[in-house]
Amino acid sequence: MQFPEAPSPEPVENELLYDAEYKEMLNAYNKVQYLYNAGIEFVRGRLETLNNEFRVRHSHNPIHHIQTRVKTPQSITMKLRKMGVPVSMTNAKKNLRDIAGVRVICCYVEDIFTVARLLTSQDDVQLIEEKNYIKHPKENGYRSLHLVVDVPVYLSEGKVYIPVEVQIRTVAMDFWASLEHNLRYKAEEEVPQFIVDELKKCADVITETDARMEQVFHAMSMLRDRAPEETMPHLGDWM
Ligand code: GTP
Ligand code: MG
Repeated sequence: MQFPEAPSPEPVENELLYDAEYKEMLNAYNKVQYLYNAGIEFVRGRLETLNNEFRVRHSHNPIHHIQTRVKTPQSITMKLRKMGVPVSMTNAKKNLRDIAGVRVICCYVEDIFTVARLLTSQDDVQLIEEKNYIKHPKENGYRSLHLVVDVPVYLSEGKVYIPVEVQIRTVAMDFWASLEHNLRYKAEEEVPQFIVDELKKCADVITETDARMEQVFHAMSMLRDRAPEETMPHLGDWM
């Protein structure tokens, strides 16, 4: 499974097919890919539980949907080459923290931070890195919260920690990022300045829309809270 912006199926560069380094890496990749899948499933499970709890307790789903991908061997090879590092799975493990990727698409901006806080406060989830492109958007207008977390995967001989990159964004941020990625990917030459400027303006409109939608959500919640509350089961009943 790949993120939607990845070309499908990803073409294997011809030169790679005959590359001994790549073949060796591919062999090693096939033996460890399940670990990255397990890391993804761990994170997905934790997120789905939180989302289900929110639905029951607060009548709100902070998570709109989740997408996942394991970086392909081709993509790992390209990234290592770009870094000037010899291509091998050992080097991929040492240098890349986004082999396992989870993208969490939230409804509102505040949901992003709720999801991030609740996931990273779990005592077996270790936060390794955080890049807040919401507080500090990229120059082109890109916004998302990026986390790298180490999560435990239990094997027959013990526990290993697997890094998982978690990108958390709203539906609106995702809409912008997906289209911007496609436009940039399809552009044969450098994207002209007027297109860059237009994309940035669209990102600004989306930022404003996100804020307004959040206000609508709060207004609706206030109206709903005036209605008589249903009796909620108490968490203590399960503890
Ligand atoms: P890479 O991991 O090599 O991409 O570099 P990095 O670690 O400096 O990147 P960063 O953590 O900032 O972003 C990693 C991922 O976020 C990318 O692979 C994209 O999925 C997404 N991303 C980052 N910047 C942009 C952007 O400007 N536009 C879009 N559409 N996606 C972006
Ligand atoms: Mg990265």
